[in-house]
Amino acid sequence: MCGIVGYIGKDEKRNIIIDGLRELEYRGYDSAGMAVMSQDEISYFKAVGKLDNLADKTKDFSSSGLGVAIGHTRWATHGKPTEINAHPHLGEHSFVVHNGIIENYKELKEELEGKGVKFLSQTDTEVIVHLFEENLKHIKDPFKAYEATIARLHGAYATLLITKTAPNKIFFAKVAAPLAIGKNDKNEIYFASSDAPLIGVAKEVSYLDDKAYGVVGIDSIEIYKDGKKITPHFSTLPKDRSYAQKEGYRFFMEKEIYEQNTVVSEAIMGRVKNGKICLENLTDEYLKNIDNIVLCACGTSYHAALTASYLFERLADVRVKVEFASEFRYRKPKLNTNSLFIVISQSGETADTLEALKIAKEAGLKTLAICNVDNSSIVRLADTTLLTRAGIEKGVASTKAFATQIVLLWMLVLQMASAKKSISQSELDTEISALLHIPQILNIDNSLQERIHRLAKHYLHGHGFFFIGRDIFYPLALEGALKLKEISYLHAEGYPAGEMKHGPIALADDRLFTIALMPQTTLYEKTKSNVEELAARDAYILAISPNEFELSDDFIKTSKQEHPMSEFFEMMIILQIFALEISIRLGNNVDMPRNLAKSVTVE
Ligand code: AGP
Repeated sequence: MCGIVGYIGKDEKRNIIIDGLRELEYRGYDSAGMAVMSQDEISYFKAVGKLDNLADKTKDFSSSGLGVAIGHTRWATHGKPTEINAHPHLGEHSFVVHNGIIENYKELKEELEGKGVKFLSQTDTEVIVHLFEENLKHIKDPFKAYEATIARLHGAYATLLITKTAPNKIFFAKVAAPLAIGKNDKNEIYFASSDAPLIGVAKEVSYLDDKAYGVVGIDSIEIYKDGKKITPHFSTLPKDRSYAQKEGYRFFMEKEIYEQNTVVSEAIMGRVKNGKICLENLTDEYLKNIDNIVLCACGTSYHAALTASYLFERLADVRVKVEFASEFRYRKPKLNTNSLFIVISQSGETADTLEALKIAKEAGLKTLAICNVDNSSIVRLADTTLLTRAGIEKGVASTKAFATQIVLLWMLVLQMASAKKSISQSELDTEISALLHIPQILNIDNSLQERIHRLAKHYLHGHGFFFIGRDIFYPLALEGALKLKEISYLHAEGYPAGEMKHGPIALADDRLFTIALMPQTTLYEKTKSNVEELAARDAYILAISPNEFELSDDFIKTSKQEHPMSEFFEMMIILQIFALEISIRLGNNVDMPRNLAKSVTVE
């Protein structure tokens, strides 16, 4: 999704913008640009494709001395990823960058065109800069003209504007898209879509609230909300940037797969005490009275929700509904005010999930966020949050965030089950000892990746993949298929194993790859007969199981485990590496797959 950076200060600005945008690359983008203003001169550059193209274009440009700069990585929503559509967008004397969607841009554009304004791009963003310059014609004060501009915008936006009419100032506004301001002791001010670009350059950060807007100058930060000046809260930023490096792995996704054992330990740490699960901010008293849960999320986080729904029903004896946030928000959902509404989001910025959370809150439901990013929009809105502690996830295809989401949800189920006494102490003990064993399950044996690497060459062609499983291995199958789709661009579907015979089996032939999740602990015989049905129709079978399966074409043997969740996590790793290895063999950009964004801040 689009990324924004901004800077006011005396240092060389080109590098600051390029470095900042690099830290936001993980959000996904298809073009980039920057505008730099110093001594009343504005220079701007745009390039399609990777940031290196913009870096190349600007390699001979530098600008030091007091001035301002804004930069942007664009993930196309309105208009193709072309140079013209790349940000910053320009008027006669001003430049703007924007993340989000201006919903009423057509109406504003028509109005401005009626006044003779010429538009260059197909974007919604361009209206902001023209509207500002039109307003400036009759409201002479640039800040008041900016205030009048944003008052006309509907939709979601984080936006920065610079103008020759107010040198050394950046105007900014934020509604439903992330924007943070950083400052340091050198009187420098930074803006960014997340704190990643601020680490190492700014000392303190303020995460702007929705509807906040204002203006910053070299020694002033003025923030307003609902027409009133507010005092921003700044907190200290960490100094360490090393977390962002690949640490010897070829891809962030690969590194993130391998660090799942550590981050899952972190997720569990301090949350199991005296043989009980004790999640911060959640008392047994609170949990015991919940008999209805709605789990709501998108993508991989939705798969975590679906997995958890089996656990909530089975162990905590609670009614559960799982919702795609994008569907939920436009239905007329029948909500029970006694429900606990749980949103799950890695980024905490997913527009659909955020809106669904707002709906639930407005309807008076109790809300809980399971999220990886503290201070994100979702965390700030939910009544309570459980942070997944996975550390920043840079690969667009989510891996460690998924693992920690599942672990957190499982712990929540167990605390609830124990509070409701829906499981016995000895069952709880068994669950907790399985939970504590997961980091070990997530230790990846050296030979596993090599084995999958060799197998992967069989799977580069064919006409599609079916990932199948039952019970919690069905959402895992969905997740395996999503991982493969995202980074290999091959068609893959996740399906309940028992459903294949109700239609999809018609596709079975020797070019249909079936990835069969066949755990020993969960409905093994049932899954086996479903896979046999496919094998009988010549489908090409990769079986993943602790039990040898004579009808499989390929086989990955997992370890014998007693607990379904142990088998779940072992198979999860296999599916992640399987997608990774196929993507590498196909020569794809594993960390930044085409058309995808890390943080989907538009609906
Ligand atoms: C995961 O690999 C995806 N890139 C995507 O499905 C993601 O899970 C989804 O967009 C939801 O994101 P969130 O967890 O940040 O809310």
